[in-house]
Amino acid sequence: MSVEFTNYSDTRYRLAEQKAAQYFSSLHGQVKEKTYVPVLTEDIEVWKRKHVRHRSWWTYFSRGKQKPDTRDYHRYIGWLNYTGKLDDYLDRSVSYIYMRDLGKAMDSPGTKARIRQVVTGIKTHLLHSTGTNREEQPDFLSLAGFYRWAQKEGVETAAIWVIDKLGNVSVHIPKELNAEQAQRKLIKIILGVVLHVIEEMGEETPPAERSRRLDEAIRLGYSYGLTYPFIDDLLDSQLLTAGEKERYSRMIRTALLTGIVPELGGWTGENVEFIRYVHSELRDAFEYIKGLQRPETVSTFFEQSYVFFQSQDIDRDKDLNCANYTNEELYIPVILKSASSRLIVRSVIHAEVDEGFDHRTFYYGIYNQLADDFADMFDDMEGGAVTPYTYYLKYRNQRQDLVNPYELYWTVICHLIHNVFRSDAKTREVILDRAINGLKRCKERLGDDKYNEIMDIFASGNLEFHHLVGQMVRKAEDVDFFDKLLRDQMNAFLKKDRQEKEDFQATVRTVRDQINSLLPIGQNNETQPMKDTLTDAANYSLEGDGKRLRPILTWVMGVNEYGLNPSAIAPLLRSLEYMHTASLIFDDLPSQDNASTRRGRSTLHEVYDSATAELTGLFLIQRAIKEQASLDRFDAKAVLALMHYSAGKAEEICRGQAMDLQSKGKALTLAELNMLCFYKTGAAFEASLVMPAILAQVEDDEIAGLKKFAYHAGIAFQIKDDLLDVEGDRQVLGKPTRKDLDNNSSTFVSVLGLDGARKEMWEHYCLAVEALREVPRNTDFLKHLLDYLVNRDR
Ligand code: IPE
Ligand code: IPE
Ligand code: MG
Ligand code: MG
Ligand code: MG
Repeated sequence: MSVEFTNYSDTRYRLAEQKAAQYFSSLHGQVKEKTYVPVLTEDIEVWKRKHVRHRSWWTYFSRGKQKPDTRDYHRYIGWLNYTGKLDDYLDRSVSYIYMRDLGKAMDSPGTKARIRQVVTGIKTHLLHSTGTNREEQPDFLSLAGFYRWAQKEGVETAAIWVIDKLGNVSVHIPKELNAEQAQRKLIKIILGVVLHVIEEMGEETPPAERSRRLDEAIRLGYSYGLTYPFIDDLLDSQLLTAGEKERYSRMIRTALLTGIVPELGGWTGENVEFIRYVHSELRDAFEYIKGLQRPETVSTFFEQSYVFFQSQDIDRDKDLNCANYTNEELYIPVILKSASSRLIVRSVIHAEVDEGFDHRTFYYGIYNQLADDFADMFDDMEGGAVTPYTYYLKYRNQRQDLVNPYELYWTVICHLIHNVFRSDAKTREVILDRAINGLKRCKERLGDDKYNEIMDIFASGNLEFHHLVGQMVRKAEDVDFFDKLLRDQMNAFLKKDRQEKEDFQATVRTVRDQINSLLPIGQNNETQPMKDTLTDAANYSLEGDGKRLRPILTWVMGVNEYGLNPSAIAPLLRSLEYMHTASLIFDDLPSQDNASTRRGRSTLHEVYDSATAELTGLFLIQRAIKEQASLDRFDAKAVLALMHYSAGKAEEICRGQAMDLQSKGKALTLAELNMLCFYKTGAAFEASLVMPAILAQVEDDEIAGLKKFAYHAGIAFQIKDDLLDVEGDRQVLGKPTRKDLDNNSSTFVSVLGLDGARKEMWEHYCLAVEALREVPRNTDFLKHLLDYLVNRDR
């Protein structure tokens, strides 16, 4: 198909270009004639009646409940509701999304009804979760919230898939690209695609079909979304050399023109690992989207992808030092790239062509682009990027012919309201809300001085009109939007999450080192004439590369949350790791799992023999009890309670192991599996959390909350262990894989299958997160530990 196809795509691009040129020339004419001024002045006069209120001194003092900071999400929503503003707020927000993202016409009765329905749904959800949820973030921003939604829609498998994918993106992304930004964009695109699919389906779609299409939407969203960080951002960044960029672009172009992703070939240099990952990820994505296209949609998909890529490529290639770009050269690629990025979404989901959507979306794109570029003009200037604003800033004095992009911006607004959306009142309301809000936000972000400086440059013509706009920016109320609030929340969340993850890793590293230094057992001098084999053997097992999760948990909760002295709890830390190591020694014995490696080295019974291994296990358990009995800086009663509790947990672990061995070859029920895993694994996690709480003598209620968390976290941990037994890497794990299969063990994987086990793991993950609400402490560490437990590779 290639030569023919190339010509065809070039022709399509030229056609798109012609259409954009016509659009630009019409806008340019309107800018010159300033026709937008009287029309928009009248619009704003009407609009402001609802947004600018005259305030007397009395209303000023009697306003009652103060408007809270929008960063305080739940209070802000509560305030909107209290003041009766919530309905309008959601209505303009949802309307805007329907117009911008879904390309709907506001005056259609169907769209109106649908918007009302969505607003009611969101409102109910918001008021419910604001009332019951103590967490700072909106629930749908958290993994648990997302997974709960996925369960409701029957798309757990796709949700788990995309969680893994997003995790991988953030692991692989080099520092030259902004990882948070990449994640946010991806999430936004996935959401957009899912919204499109939901709108396409309507009410009458049967649940199974709805799940199937949503599953597809999530995967399509990710696949298409990847192009943002991995094509656009990557080519914008400084990561690749000029030669590499050219080669990379050529590869993408070939894929779009031939429908086949070329092999990567012999890529060398520093970025080879990353490029390999990107190449394979993009190839899968491309194949996935292509594979779902229908014969009647496939050419539209390729055409639009090509226009999208090509227009960005042309736009990216501009040089701020080049003084003679024409207005057309500046604006046509901008019109094309901003329109095609939205137009393409329907073709990605292989939806039928919708003329109305295409028409509105084509004209709409540049509005957004000009709004975004306005807000970013100083950053862009610093980065040397050519946008209509940076170019105007640089050449406005020497190039009288240059179009003022800010005037063009208002021209586009006028054109949208009156030509594209037929002077519809609702459209006018929503677009002006958005435009004024954009300026307000920009002013807040840049500060008054910088903002005024911009206005002096861009708003110097039409003083009267810009004075009116300025007044609106200062005085208008009720112009903020829910999607902006979510965006801010998401940014704050991703940033905080990243920081917390780094803190978590740092804490784990330092505490692990400290614990490692506490573990070695001293030689017994009394046995001098004979070699102290048991101490050697115990130290051999302890020296292995264990994760030390249990004592780490105890250290962090004990020291950071209960204020216990780290050296005072050293015996407790030792006892936990001794018990755990003993359980592993037993577990690996030929009479149990019969494993030959553990913690990256040969198992103890391989190095010595089974008898020595058994005795070492017993020795370590006794040593653990001895350590507990030397917790002499705590209340004696508390220590006794701790030892009593600990012995009970050790019994449970024995029971769990016995159940495990007895269950070989059997298909256990879910209830039996849960019990088995809680005993053999969860109990030790519980002990790590509960023992420091006993020493700190905390309330029973709190202990109950910790136990609930430990129960679900422990089971999630064991399910991950079962999954790693099948999917993990022997080297990384430091222990054999496929052991459960060899032993015919009954595990979550053998009973539920891989997919079923993953779902069960995420179910316990959610239950564990939910249990944390009952723990009246800072639970950030526990939350991140849980994230680690389900995402780990060792
Ligand atoms: C392995 O525990 C035994 C199970 C309960 C599945 P870990 O995975 O914590 O093992 P180490 O201590 O890091 O070696
Ligand atoms: C072991 O479970 C649990 C205990 C040691 C108490 P597994 O048998 O699944 O642990 P691994 O996979 O050998 O580490
Ligand atoms: Mg076992
Ligand atoms: Mg085992
Ligand atoms: Mg295992």
